[in-house]
Amino acid sequence: MMGTDLGRRRILQGMTFMAGSAALGAGAAGPTAVGSTDGTGFDWKAVRAAFPEQAPFVNLDNGCISLPPLAVQSTMLKQYKFANECPCYNMFEVLDNAVPATKARLAKMVGCEPDEIALNRCTTVGMCTAIFGMPLSRGDEVILSRWDYPSMISAWKQRAAREGIILRVAQFGLEDDDDTIIRAYAKEISPRTRAMHMTHMIHWSGRVIPVTEICQAAAARGIRTVVDAAQSFAHIPVDFRRIGCDYLATSFHKWLSGPIGTGMFVVKASRIEETWPLYGTFEELKGADKFSLSNLGTYNSADHYAINDAIDFHEHIGFERKHRRLQELSRYWVDKARGIQGFRIHSLMDHPGLGGLTAFSIDGMPVERIESRLRDEFKIQTRKRTPEGFRGIRVSPQVYNTFEELDMFVSALRKIAVSA
Ligand SMILES: Cc1ncc(COP(=O)(O)O)c(C=O)c1O
Repeated sequence: MMGTDLGRRRILQGMTFMAGSAALGAGAAGPTAVGSTDGTGFDWKAVRAAFPEQAPFVNLDNGCISLPPLAVQSTMLKQYKFANECPCYNMFEVLDNAVPATKARLAKMVGCEPDEIALNRCTTVGMCTAIFGMPLSRGDEVILSRWDYPSMISAWKQRAAREGIILRVAQFGLEDDDDTIIRAYAKEISPRTRAMHMTHMIHWSGRVIPVTEICQAAAARGIRTVVDAAQSFAHIPVDFRRIGCDYLATSFHKWLSGPIGTGMFVVKASRIEETWPLYGTFEELKGADKFSLSNLGTYNSADHYAINDAIDFHEHIGFERKHRRLQELSRYWVDKARGIQGFRIHSLMDHPGLGGLTAFSIDGMPVERIESRLRDEFKIQTRKRTPEGFRGIRVSPQVYNTFEELDMFVSALRKIAVSA
């Protein structure tokens, strides 16, 4: 039986996958006031119980990596054991038979054709395939922003240093309005512009930028577009066709709560042929499989097999309900923290793109100190974010986090702020 059917049955059986919990040696969380104010009566307590315990810290750092639900872990472990019993056959002839069905489900989620998807390890691999793989010549210009993910900026800098590509930087602030951001990208366009790179939800503060409008302006001039959807996929609406980009990449271990070390690269069909794969391929393959891990060296099929369980879980909650919940969690803790002396939120709390990822600072207190005190004294994992021109603590609860945990977090902030 394929992971899809198995996983769906488990999830629909009330999302209390206790057998997995025992097998993993991780006790499911006890009864917690998970709370829901969305008025739908949805059982968030069952969602919480479907995840492992958070240890040693409460994880408010899901923008880095989410805990995978127990059902996902259980499939990964079970299939990893199976894979180890006869690796080449069990992985490539058995587990990989699930890949077409997985890609069909992902294609539906992200609004593309299954043939336009390559399964891989993470966003970095997909984005670097686009960055290094698109055909460009000396003097061609590429537009990006200083808020893009550092690995992507350095990949572009490498191309610039090696091949004479020219990088132009769209200048905008994380709290600027959408029109200002659209204009910032448009302003850098010249007759030599060949590509534009965007981060859909900017990882420093959760700012969602108007990628659709920017991509439309680019497409009208024949400019290729690359969208980094690491933080937006399975979190806020992401539709490849509607955005109209040429390349999009994401990781599944963030907002999909998928197996750690899995992701996908989406390439518009008409761009597949001209785009180079990142590594040497084993064979000529149809469609985006040219870029897939299965064609670029040995990988672990058990991880990819378990993606289905993560999709089951995500679909059981329902995309819109999940997005609303993540917004609700963010607004809940930020509203409570607003009374703290010196507290500053660096995210747009009324923007429709708001999700579970925001950033704050406390006047007069170094972010390094806030991060380490939260972790060492209060056992809460957040993440300091300090690119040039920004200093904040990123807070990113997931669907399993509770209002009680957010109360604990805000109470910790109050204590920390007193000593600022
Ligand atoms: C916007 C963005 N792009 C890319 C990445 C890299 O993701 P991965 O390490 O899964 O490749 C991250 C990780 O946080 C991110 O936030």
